[in-house]
Amino acid sequence: MHHHSHNRATLGGKLSAVLVAAGSSVGLGNIWRFPYVAGDNGGGVFLLIYIGCVLLLGLPIMLAEFAVGRTTRRNAVGAYHALDRRWSFIGYNSVLAAFLILGFYFVVSGWTAEYTVHSLTGELASLSTAEEYAAQFEGFISNPWRPLLYTLLFILATHAVIALGVQKGIERSAKVLMPLLFIILIALSIHSLLMPGAAEGMRFLFRPDFSKVTASTLLTALGQAFFSLSVGIGTMVTYASYFKPETNLRHTALNVTLLDTLVAVLAGVVIFPAVFTAGIAPSSGPSLVFITLPGIFNGMPLSMVWSTVFFLLLVVAALTSTISLHEVITAYLHEEWHLSRRSAAWLTTLSTAALATLASLSLGLLGGWRICGLTLFDALDFATANILLPLGGLFTCIFVGWKLDPERFREQLSNHGTLRCRIHGLLIFLLRWVCPVILLLVFLDNLGLY
Ligand code: TRP
Repeated sequence: MHHHSHNRATLGGKLSAVLVAAGSSVGLGNIWRFPYVAGDNGGGVFLLIYIGCVLLLGLPIMLAEFAVGRTTRRNAVGAYHALDRRWSFIGYNSVLAAFLILGFYFVVSGWTAEYTVHSLTGELASLSTAEEYAAQFEGFISNPWRPLLYTLLFILATHAVIALGVQKGIERSAKVLMPLLFIILIALSIHSLLMPGAAEGMRFLFRPDFSKVTASTLLTALGQAFFSLSVGIGTMVTYASYFKPETNLRHTALNVTLLDTLVAVLAGVVIFPAVFTAGIAPSSGPSLVFITLPGIFNGMPLSMVWSTVFFLLLVVAALTSTISLHEVITAYLHEEWHLSRRSAAWLTTLSTAALATLASLSLGLLGGWRICGLTLFDALDFATANILLPLGGLFTCIFVGWKLDPERFREQLSNHGTLRCRIHGLLIFLLRWVCPVILLLVFLDNLGLY
């Protein structure tokens, strides 16, 4: 029934697992979402809780997903179905969440593409005050057709990568471009640290103020950790199904986690000094990074070059993330519905394009249309990060901790006994007890049940 192995092998190929997994993890979640939710949730204390969530929950659950994917070599639905059909719902949650995430992620990706072009044309550099940047951003996103155009172009780029099987090329360029993004972030953070608001920004990001913790801070940090690492909804199951038998899953997960966290913290170091220098509110929401960055670039020599290169790198980082989300749906449709890969990819592209169109318009033309008081864009962002990802994570750790044969998990961690693995017991303990208990408590806390 599942004889698609020659197709499946295209992704990643001989390239390292770290590269594809990091490509999925490092994206707008680090550079756009992390600063905006950290700014909205108290800064330092959020960062502390976030790092706790990454280590205690994100890392073990990433390993759990790797094990499920590589032991079954199936898409997210097929993988859980093959292990225990009653748990297939985890896979369906994955496909649904990937679809909903793409709905708003494609929109933000479109903005980064638009900002790349406007960096080149000099339009971005023509302003100077925080109010002007904010007004400019509002103008960008509420325009009925322009952001839509960029979003659709970005969707087509994602489709082209998936459909033409050029993942190898993309990942190979990511090998060069990711370190470049990293270097630029370091350069920008040095520039930010020399700004007048640097001390205040650093205090905001690194000095925890425990009086700011609420139930929703915990859930937001947890959701952001899962979102940034790409865990909770089977992306890593899907990717691990393409990993080689000799890939060291523990090293891969550890490297990806550290890299991803480092990029998020660096983004914070770049953004917050500038936020306080320009007098922007840290709680500005999704617009925060887009209204802060132009001011950073404007203060630099060769601002147009910095700004263009940075947004271009952001486009690439976003692309390697949308590819991974697209692949979750495409692999599912291809293997479970028995569509050709081509049709599966088109179905994914067209359906996510429809959702992204509505999400884009919900910030302008369709602004009056609210779901629980939120625009469709905000509702998709909120519901996936704060509900579907933590729920998927909860069921993943319960499944791998309690249902999956521990021997099977150990075989994956140790590559059938060829690697020494001393953390198996600790991981099982985290997956059985620590992760589910924390997730349940945080959920109950948010529902106001105790
Ligand atoms: N982690 C990516 C980012 O930070 C986004 C992403 C890709 C994602 N795949 C995912 C988020 C799966 C949640 C689940 O930009």
